[in-house]
Amino acid sequence: MTISVFEDYHALSAHAASFIAGQLRIKPSLTLCMASGHTPALTVEMLVNTILSEKIDYSGFRFIGLDEWLGLPPENSGSCHYFFKTKLIDPLQLSPSQYFLFDAMSPDPAAECKKMDAVIAERGIDIMLVGIGMNGHIGFNEPGTSFLSLCHVAALDDTTKSVGQKYFNEQMELSKGITTGLGQLLTASTVLLMANGSKKAPVIQKAVEGPVKESFPASIIQRHPNAVILTDKEAAALLNTSR
Ligand code: PGA
Repeated sequence: MTISVFEDYHALSAHAASFIAGQLRIKPSLTLCMASGHTPALTVEMLVNTILSEKIDYSGFRFIGLDEWLGLPPENSGSCHYFFKTKLIDPLQLSPSQYFLFDAMSPDPAAECKKMDAVIAERGIDIMLVGIGMNGHIGFNEPGTSFLSLCHVAALDDTTKSVGQKYFNEQMELSKGITTGLGQLLTASTVLLMANGSKKAPVIQKAVEGPVKESFPASIIQRHPNAVILTDKEAAALLNTSR
């Protein structure tokens, strides 16, 4: 596990974007599994700009959406689908064969999970870019989720239900999510765990320096052989080791 601390959110996002763009140059068939949310928003914007301005070949690029609010229509601006469509899929004009998103409206979510498990088993994940929730979740892998989990439907933790309101214009009834699993995070070649802002300092400290346990899902990062923690100074403020 390596930890890089950046001056601010902009520098952190620029680094993550340039790392992914660099890897795409090396491996044009790169598969990126990425979170939506506030943390990676600038990274994806910078990544798209770099790919287009530097004319990086992305015809072989594949993208997997990390998770989704179950039952939320894709046109809802708070959905992960909307985030990915407006920030990545449309700007890059990705063809439907290049991206894989959970269908949160499917009458058979278990089948959606199986489908995504098969995609991940077949392609593998080169880079998994994730944030961290205020309860230590990664994706919708809530506290107590098995480190061996594959794609699954998750009952949302109370913290996720309340913090999740920030993505929506009106009060939302959030109860379940559909998510890739922690077992799949362990299979990714590289995991980038990003966090910014002082509110993330306690959870970053626990993820990086606390005990590795399923009650704090992000602690799994300590088990990954090639995990990179990227934070701004504020999110790194409680780390014991000075960096
Ligand atoms: P955020 O979400 O990037 O919007 O803070 C992180 C998460 O809940 O995983």
